[in-house]
Amino acid sequence: MKPIIECKNIHFHYNQNEVLKGVQFIVEKGDYVGLVGPNGSGKSTLLKIILGLVEPKQGEVKLFETPLSSFKEWHKIGYVSQKANSFNSGFPATVFEVVSMGLFGKLGLFKRLTRQHRSAILEAIDQVGLSDLAERNIGKLSGGQQQRAFIARALVSNPELLILDEPTVGVDTESVDKFYQLLGKLHQDHNLTLLMVTHDIGMMTNHVNKVACLNKKIHFHGNPSDFHANQKAILESAYGSNMNLVEHRH
Ligand SMILES: Nc1ncnc2c1ncn2[C@@H]1O[C@H](COP(=O)(O)OP(=O)(O)OP(=O)(O)O)[C@@H](O)[C@H]1O
Ligand SMILES: [Mg+2]
Repeated sequence: MKPIIECKNIHFHYNQNEVLKGVQFIVEKGDYVGLVGPNGSGKSTLLKIILGLVEPKQGEVKLFETPLSSFKEWHKIGYVSQKANSFNSGFPATVFEVVSMGLFGKLGLFKRLTRQHRSAILEAIDQVGLSDLAERNIGKLSGGQQQRAFIARALVSNPELLILDEPTVGVDTESVDKFYQLLGKLHQDHNLTLLMVTHDIGMMTNHVNKVACLNKKIHFHGNPSDFHANQKAILESAYGSNMNLVEHRH
């Protein structure tokens, strides 16, 4: 399969704090990868390096087989950052407007929306099941609904790769289930490649086809059944032996 993300020997530190230590990581076309690791293990930092938002001290990133420094097809990538949904209730934008922001990269800020843009926006809103709330103020949605609005924003440019940083934080169990169904559908129907950071190891491994476990370096990268077969050793190596894991496998 074609590599979509390639990280070779990535090193990164903030001052004295070593965050990534020789990370090797590949995401192939059609993968649905769950990236886990303890707090502060470098997950968000690795995503930011992949997205060119933070520069590695050493190592190489390629996106769609192009070195990051010359990569220009950012419309192929959707990104929902950690805490994307921490809006206060007064934020003056509707769901439709927030989702339309996902097109600004293509449009330039002050261009008018064409009919095609509008229908792409409405389709993305429909995909995440928020059609009834399209004109509602984003701050007046629940946390889980806001999360879906941000996914719609990332989907509106029709990306090939969707990167999500802890999308299910603050979302109730039933909604998390629906959320995984939504991602599964996007993965299958739209052949979307997915990279998702989560702490929800039990749930996630029921849905993804690859699990990666990070703590400064990659401690495991493989399919969920190999992960389960060696879970104790992998988690001890990445989280330390005091880790208390609650698993909810269905
Ligand atoms: N802007 C920053 N300046 C200095 N240190 C930072 C900065 N951002 C993150 N760090 C530190 O880098 C390390 C890795 O942070 P990162 O956000 O990548 O972890 P994470 O795996 O995403 O954690 P979490 O599960 O809590 O989101 C942590 O020790 C963190 O304190
Ligand atoms: Mg993080």
